[in-house]
Amino acid sequence: MPQDLIKKAVTQFQEVFGGDPDTKAFAPGRVEILGNHTDYNQGLVMAVAIDRFTIVVGRPITGTIATIHASQFGQTDSLDLAAPAIETGPAGDWRRYTRGVIWALRSQLPFNQGFEALILGNLPLGAGLSSSASLQVALALFLQALHHQNITNDTARMALAKRLRKAENGFVGVASGLLDFATVLFGRPGEALFLDCRTLESRRVSLSQTPPAIVVMDTATSRQLADGMYNIRRSECERILEHFRKLKSKGVSELLSLRDISIEELSANWKYLDPVGRQRARHVLLENQRVADGLAALEAGDLMTLGILMSRSHKSSMTDFQNSSDALDALVESALTAPGCLGAKLSGAGWAGCVVALVEPEQVDQFKRACAATYQEKTGLKTEVYVAFSAGCSDA
Ligand code: GLA
Repeated sequence: MPQDLIKKAVTQFQEVFGGDPDTKAFAPGRVEILGNHTDYNQGLVMAVAIDRFTIVVGRPITGTIATIHASQFGQTDSLDLAAPAIETGPAGDWRRYTRGVIWALRSQLPFNQGFEALILGNLPLGAGLSSSASLQVALALFLQALHHQNITNDTARMALAKRLRKAENGFVGVASGLLDFATVLFGRPGEALFLDCRTLESRRVSLSQTPPAIVVMDTATSRQLADGMYNIRRSECERILEHFRKLKSKGVSELLSLRDISIEELSANWKYLDPVGRQRARHVLLENQRVADGLAALEAGDLMTLGILMSRSHKSSMTDFQNSSDALDALVESALTAPGCLGAKLSGAGWAGCVVALVEPEQVDQFKRACAATYQEKTGLKTEVYVAFSAGCSDA
């Protein structure tokens, strides 16, 4: 439990609103181990929730006004919960995310009284560690707790993940998949989450047999998910699906996602396919296989293979999905040449943000030093390198 951060949030709440909060919730960030851009293609993902958090503390008030203060921005938002519609506000703004959560929970919670809440977090924003899903889950858990509806089982966890995803797609305007919400909600200390985004089968895999060090390194570059590149990739994948739907051999009902196309079918149609889309599709199909292989490797305690698969995933992001950047590539290269590195890849949407590496635990210190020095030599940028520990949310 992030005690210090909760304490800090309580103090800030007292300063901003006066008096004590009586309800607290928190949600972690996450690193994507394998399964890059596979989730919205109904594919496979493997991720770990990590010990960087978003905290929401607050209390109910009479009336129907909700007031939310975001400490990291020094900004406050107020809205009337009784109003018939919720305005979205500007794209990319934190308020769009918090309002989206209220929008998502409107049919589930009565919202017959207002609240005051303060949000505080220590996740770098726009860095591929899911600061936005962490914020949305923390606020959702806070609102549920305020209405005495804590989450007690995986069915409720998945239902909330789906609701929040719907809000991110329909209200925030980012066509993201389930990876972030599911990991943040299902994550627990000592475990990785495997999720099949088609069947919604989830499996928690123990990290404790031969625990690798999960090292997170920030390129010191950032981007916003709402900047359009993410949605463009999604439509590029959709274009390939459209091509296959037009082929007579398969009916539309059989082709719901790229998951329904085999790598052999993709190869057989390669020359007829849109040259950009076919590369995106190849990445997704091979990445699904890497997740399946990675799951088997993790279950067998074979971290060497898991690391190799992560590095292959990054290569595929560089060449086929083209969601890497010079800074991300330089940081992955710096990691791979540092002592004890088993594998490294970008984490999350891409284009900027963080790299995640698996490192032999006894070599972590040498790894950190060497990786940071090489990266600075290559780019002139300073990376923050830290060892992440698996974690869970307040209702884990
Ligand atoms: C972002 C999205 C996720 C997922 C990853 C890429 O984090 O929010 O749904 O698509 O990018 O794997």
